[in-house]
Formats: sequence, structure tokens, C-alpha cells
Amino acid sequence: MTKQRKGIILAGGTGTRLFPVTLGISKQLVPVYDKPMIYYPLSVLMLSGIKEILIITTPVDHAQFVRVLGDGSQWGISLQFAIQETPDGLPQAYLIGEQFLDGAPSALILGDNIFYGNGLVELLKNADGHALGVTVFGYRVRDPERYGVFGFDDHGKVVSIVEKPSKPGSNYAITGLYFADETAPDRSRDIRPSARGELEITSLLNSYLEEGVLNVELMGRGFSWLDTGTHASLLNASNFVKTMTERQGLQVGSPDEVAFHQNWISREDLLRRAKKFDKNYYGKYLKQIAQG
Ligand code: TTP
Repeated sequence: MTKQRKGIILAGGTGTRLFPVTLGISKQLVPVYDKPMIYYPLSVLMLSGIKEILIITTPVDHAQFVRVLGDGSQWGISLQFAIQETPDGLPQAYLIGEQFLDGAPSALILGDNIFYGNGLVELLKNADGHALGVTVFGYRVRDPERYGVFGFDDHGKVVSIVEKPSKPGSNYAITGLYFADETAPDRSRDIRPSARGELEITSLLNSYLEEGVLNVELMGRGFSWLDTGTHASLLNASNFVKTMTERQGLQVGSPDEVAFHQNWISREDLLRRAKKFDKNYYGKYLKQIAQG
């Protein structure tokens, strides 16, 4: 029987595009409106039903992540931490996380990726249901040459995956969320560094594609996949969250809310969390949902 899927959040990197902001703090800990950035990808893994999660950070940022997130018990989940010495590419997450995964399938999410939209849970459940191969998510963008990009044949089947192509095969970028089977660490070990000296996620995905076990889910118009890598896109992401929060009165990316809805924490647990934040709207919101 296959083991329960585990989660990995890759939250290392240098964040050079956000300098000088990220000279003293990890990109994934800076605020996206009212929460640290990492709350958003963490919530996505939790929405997928994943309770065992490894967080990979740089050596210098490690302690701060532990301080912000703790051991996960406040959300009824288990958080572990590991270090990536140098940012040598995304597939390193599978090598660093190999022991943690211990033969289980995984969901890897980049710590700076924000997903939001109607039907997200459904999409995540579908991906989780694929025991064989890897499931990746495509999102239509105006400027595909900045991303890893899918090429499709006439029947809509993926035939190529190329990193930052000068002539993109489509407008569909590969997002930073990968549901992989238990073979991902072994495959990652076989990858050779690219010309820029990194292990490329596209190399890993191509190894699945060549065997016909790469599954793509396209995210439609109702979805938002937000970039937070530059000063302007970070501000846009904050404004997006602020707009959704104020307009709908609903939270985006709250692990507290997800944990409560998943029944991983009790009403009393949530009220205790709410008290911690009772000076602001977030605390009031948690109190409100606890009181039903
Ligand atoms: P990038 O945005 O490609 O890199 P970065 O965060 O260092 O930023 P910049 O380009 O401004 O220097 O990384 C995407 C995400 O993946 C981000 O959350 C950091 C993470 N990452 C790692 O944790 N380790 C790595 O080896 C790489 C390449 C990225």
C-alpha cells in the first residue's frame, strides 16, 4: 500500500530581486498583507489534507522560521525543518527531504507561491488521487518566457517542458506545486546541473514526461496564481489579499481556519489562537468562525 502523502515547502533562496528588503529576512517571512508569506503555501498543503510537512530554509533563516511556525501542533499538524546550504535548485528539495519522505509520495510547494480560487480543493484532491507519476499545474500567463513552459500537441497532450524558452510552446507556465510519487528522490539524484549550475525542476519533470506519467491540470480563469518575487508583484499580492479579505470578509491563506475546517483542532484551540491576535482583524475573524 502506498504511504500517506507528505508535504515539503521549499523556502530557501536568496531573494535577490527583493533586496534590500531580503538582506535581513527570508523572502518567505515577509508579509503578504496580513500574514507571513509562508502561511499561504502552508495553507495549500493543509487544504490538500497533508499533516506532515518539512520546511526547507537557508541556514541563517532557520531559527526565525521555527519561531514563526513552531512544531505545527497549534494547527494539529507536524512541522519539521531542514536546511539547504546553497540554493542549487528545486529538485534538491527531494534529496534533502528523502529521509523525511521515507518512501512516501509528496507534494512540494515553493514558499513564495500563492494560489487562490474557486475549486482549488477539488484540484488538489484530484492531484492527490494520482498515485503514479507527477501532477503539475499550468497557469496561463502573458509572459511565458519568464517561466518553465508546457508545449502541447493538437490533442492538448503535453509534449514538452522547457525552462524559460525564447519561443514558448504555449502561454501555460508551470506553477510551483508538484504532486510527485515516491520515485522523485531517486530521479532527482540522476539529474545533472544545468548551464546555470542548478538542478532544474524541468529536468525532473521531463524524466516523468518521457515515461508518460506526467499529468497536467490547467488552472482556469477563476484562479489566481500570484508572484511575489519583485517589489511590485509583492505589493500587488498584498493588495489582492487585502481586497479579498475586505470585500468578502473571508481569509486567504489562513492555516488556523484550514486546521479548524479539517477538524484538526477544536473550537477551544481556535479560540486560544484567536486570543493571541485579539488586537486585530485576524483574531476577530478566528473568533467569529470558532463561534460559528
Ligand atoms: P526564485 O524566485 O527562483 O529565487 P529566489 O527566491 O532566491 O529569488 P531571486 O530570484 O530574487 O534571487 O525561487 C523560487 C522559490 O524557490 C523561492 O521560494 C525560493 C525557493 N528556492 C529554494 O528554496 N532553493 C533553491 O535552490 C531555489 C532555486 C529556489
